[in-house]
Amino acid sequence: MAHIPVLLDEVISFLAPKPNQNFVDATVGDGGHAKAILKKTSPNGKLIAIDRDINSIVRARSNLKEFGDRVLFINDSFGNLLKITEELKIGFIHGIIFDFGMSTNQLENSGRGFSFQKDEILDMRFDSKNPLTAEDVVNDYSEEQLVTLFKKFGEEPKAKVIARAIVAFRKNQRIKTTQDLVGIIERVVKRHGKLNPATLVFQAIRIEVNQELVEIEKALAAVPEILSKDGRAAFISFHSLEDRLIKNWSRDLNKKNIVKILNKKPITAVAEEIKINPKSRSAKLRIIVSLREISRREKKI
Ligand SMILES: C[S@@+](CC[C@H](N)C(=O)[O-])C[C@H]1O[C@@H](n2cnc3c(N)ncnc32)[C@H](O)[C@@H]1O
Repeated sequence: MAHIPVLLDEVISFLAPKPNQNFVDATVGDGGHAKAILKKTSPNGKLIAIDRDINSIVRARSNLKEFGDRVLFINDSFGNLLKITEELKIGFIHGIIFDFGMSTNQLENSGRGFSFQKDEILDMRFDSKNPLTAEDVVNDYSEEQLVTLFKKFGEEPKAKVIARAIVAFRKNQRIKTTQDLVGIIERVVKRHGKLNPATLVFQAIRIEVNQELVEIEKALAAVPEILSKDGRAAFISFHSLEDRLIKNWSRDLNKKNIVKILNKKPITAVAEEIKINPKSRSAKLRIIVSLREISRREKKI
């Protein structure tokens, strides 16, 4: 199944890309948002297309080939945004988009254990050069570390029970697959309302393996440094931990007059979009505009 870009019309209307402007797509994925931006910034606007997963870069390269050398592909984490943009020296950056989480392709076809509905190895790394895998986390973390992890990154109410069950299981055999883990969880936890009982544990492990919140914090620190005045940044988050980071960061910078928040309440998908793309149900979009007179990038040129 192809990845459908979430809140696409809303992103384009708020980022308002214009001919010849330069943009960053910090999570290019399959290139859905990138393509819509590139159409609006023709004929000469550049797009820096970043993704931590080399397979996403390969797919985006193929999906965006009609734009030729207007797209600069970077296989790296958006945590290195400042360094990436400084090295490329593309001048003014008028807008940036972050669409956090996983693409449909990663969930369905990567074989890396992102989905609790499949039986795959416990990997969960976006970047396969990352030394820590999900299998390491579930087999090597102490019971206390697992409890902390499931509480902190999963907000999982049954963190203790699940951690205890994991530790009991692994006394006899290593936990190797997603279905090993799902089985352990399902034996001790009933459904969380509409959620599968494994949902929050999988989220927590993925965040830990990829240090997702740390990378977001590093990227947020870079955003005001790279956006030109009146440049806009759009953030699409899929769970409350991500959304809270964006909300607090933008409030703080709004108070200091470094950025202005364009939407007080996050924008969410309308019923029509949710029907076509159920993944959009949990998406929250926040937009800021940079108020800085002269950013470091503009000064350099
Ligand atoms: C939801 S998808 C993006 C989909 C994209 N907007 C589209 O329309 O096709 C999220 C992408 O972000 C990438 N990603 C996750 N964490 C990242 C990070 N720290 N740095 C760069 N890319 C990251 C994932 O590998 C994935 O390809």
